[in-house]
Formats: sequence, structure tokens, C-alpha cells
Amino acid sequence: MKHIMNDISMAIETLKSGGVVGMPTETVYGLAASIESPIGIENIFKTKERPFFDPLIVHISSTNQAKKYVKSWPSTCEVLAQNFWPGPLTIVLPKKDNVSDMITSGLDSVGLRMPNHPIALDLINKLGHPIAAPSANKFKKTSPTKKEHVTAEFNDVMVLEGGDCQVGIESTVIGVFEDKISIYRPGMITKADIENVFTKNGITIKIEIVESPVAPGQLKHHYMPKLPIILLQNARSLDEVNHEHIDSKALEKPSYLKLENDPSLCARNLYHNFRKFDDNASSIVIPLSDNQLNNDQWLGIMNRLEKAASYTLSK
Ligand code: TXA
Ligand code: MG
Repeated sequence: MKHIMNDISMAIETLKSGGVVGMPTETVYGLAASIESPIGIENIFKTKERPFFDPLIVHISSTNQAKKYVKSWPSTCEVLAQNFWPGPLTIVLPKKDNVSDMITSGLDSVGLRMPNHPIALDLINKLGHPIAAPSANKFKKTSPTKKEHVTAEFNDVMVLEGGDCQVGIESTVIGVFEDKISIYRPGMITKADIENVFTKNGITIKIEIVESPVAPGQLKHHYMPKLPIILLQNARSLDEVNHEHIDSKALEKPSYLKLENDPSLCARNLYHNFRKFDDNASSIVIPLSDNQLNNDQWLGIMNRLEKAASYTLSK
């Protein structure tokens, strides 16, 4: 992995002067700005063409740093941080005034995450402040998992090379309350993973999966690639399902994408696979098995597929 000091220094200068930088993380590449720079934060929204109602995740490099931005740090969070940070878990808690309203879209809570990537952690440490970063793609489009994906979309943004993202889909986003944990966006850290660490630590707390109106990763359409995606539930080919109502252009040259059987591998390659079909294809057809549709480990992947898909057909 290339990790050039000069690049980090240049990235820090850019962040300090209100610019944005492509930052590798273990989930997807982020579009980073310093939380201390209002111009930088505004630049994130402008560059992504993202509406101001969609709040940003604040990336920190230590649990102590996280605590500076929230009103309280319950013991549940300590357990979560010890077990899952650095890693693909975003914890939403009531915020202090030192997190600007532009970052949280006026919400009184902030999402915090410690990324598991040496370059992201180095960048936060050297900047001396947390970094706000959404995924580095235009609003509603597919997230980037390679440096080239970011430069293809934003050719004038400096991107730090951090290799291919190892997790491949965005972090699990949870709200932490006194009496429950709400999963707003499922990811590769699953409900069962969270339950297990609480059980090990003698904590009993309800965990619910909710579609949060304030987590627009939850908008109906998101993560969409250029070609329309057609999901097949319990069918292996278009011949097995009724596809009369599908736009005929999409059916001119459908290409099939077979997902890997292992969920970790599938997540890692998913967004690259979305992009690999060239313009000769007219659509991406993805057959899904019963196991993938009804399994905790696949929930994050299914959530992304459903939102990225233009059509879902079943037998
Ligand atoms: O893995 C990730 O989370 C990546 C990398 C770059 O860290 N980031 C990412 O950011 O996916 P973004 O902005 O594309 O998605 C963040 C999600 C959004 O759905 C947003 O609504 C939700 O987190 N979120 C952020 N702050 C929130 C808050 N205070 N309450 C509820 N949801 C929040
Ligand atoms: Mg995003």
C-alpha cells in the first residue's frame, strides 16, 4: 500500500484551508473535511450535490476524542467501542454544541465512527481534529471502494491511495438510548454481533432494526449504478419470472451478476461488481437465494441491493 508522507501533508493543508480530500476507510472511501472548517463542510455537500438534510458521520481516532463531542458516554457505548472500534460501526448519540448544525443537519445527535484504516487514523491524528466524511460519491449513487472510483467521479479532488476497501459496504449505523439500541442502517456488524458482545458483558438491552427517517441511507433509492439492477428472488433467470412491466431497453442485453456465497467476500466486491459491466450491457440481473434473503449476515448487503435496484421480481 502506498502511503506517502507528502500526500498526507498536502491533504492536511487542503483540509485546513477548507478543501475536501478523498480518504480511504475499511468500508468505502469518504469525502473528508475538517469538522473545524465550515467552508470544508459546505464543500462536502456542494461536491456531492448532497441535500443539507442528510447528516454527516464524524470520524475520530480515539474513544477519548469521541467523548468530547457527546453529552454522555453510557457504559453500553464503552462496550461497543472496545469491541468494534476501530471498525465499521457508527454510534449516534446526543451531541454537544461543538459539533456544528451543518454537520448534523440540525439534529441534536451526532454519528461517530473510528475507521479501521491506518491512513484515515493518521489523517485525523495529524490534523488534530475529527473529520466529517460521507461516502465519496454523488448523492444517491454507488459508494467507491477503490481510489479510481473516486477519481472517476470527482476528477479535481485529491484522493489518498489506501488500496481496496476490505469491508466494501458502509458502516452499521446505530442509535444508542437508555433502554434500547436502534439499528438505522444495517451493515457487516450485525444485530447478532452486537447482542453477543452485550451478553458477554452481562448487559441486557433491546436491539431493534428500524428504518430511520433521519438516515437517508434509508431513502428508497440509493447506491444506484449507471445500469438498472434487476433483483430475482428465488429465481435464477429472467425466464423464470414475469418481466412484462420492465422497461424493454433494460431487457435488450441483460448481464448476470452471481454474488459470492460468502457474505464478507460478497460485500467487499459488491460495488466494484456494480461498476464492472460496460455499456454493452443493458441491465445487471442479480439472482438471490432464500439463504441470502433471510439471514442476519446478509441483511446489510440485501439493504444495499434493494435500494440500488430498479426492479425486484419473484417467482
Ligand atoms: O462506512 C461509512 O459509514 C462511510 C465511511 C466513509 O465512513 N460513510 C458513510 O457516510 O456511509 P454517508 O454520509 O454516506 O452515510 C451516513 C449515514 C447516513 O444515512 C446518515 O443519514 C446517517 O449515517 N447519520 C449520520 N448522522 C446521523 C444522525 N445524527 N442520526 C441518524 N443518522 C445519521
Ligand atoms: Mg453515502
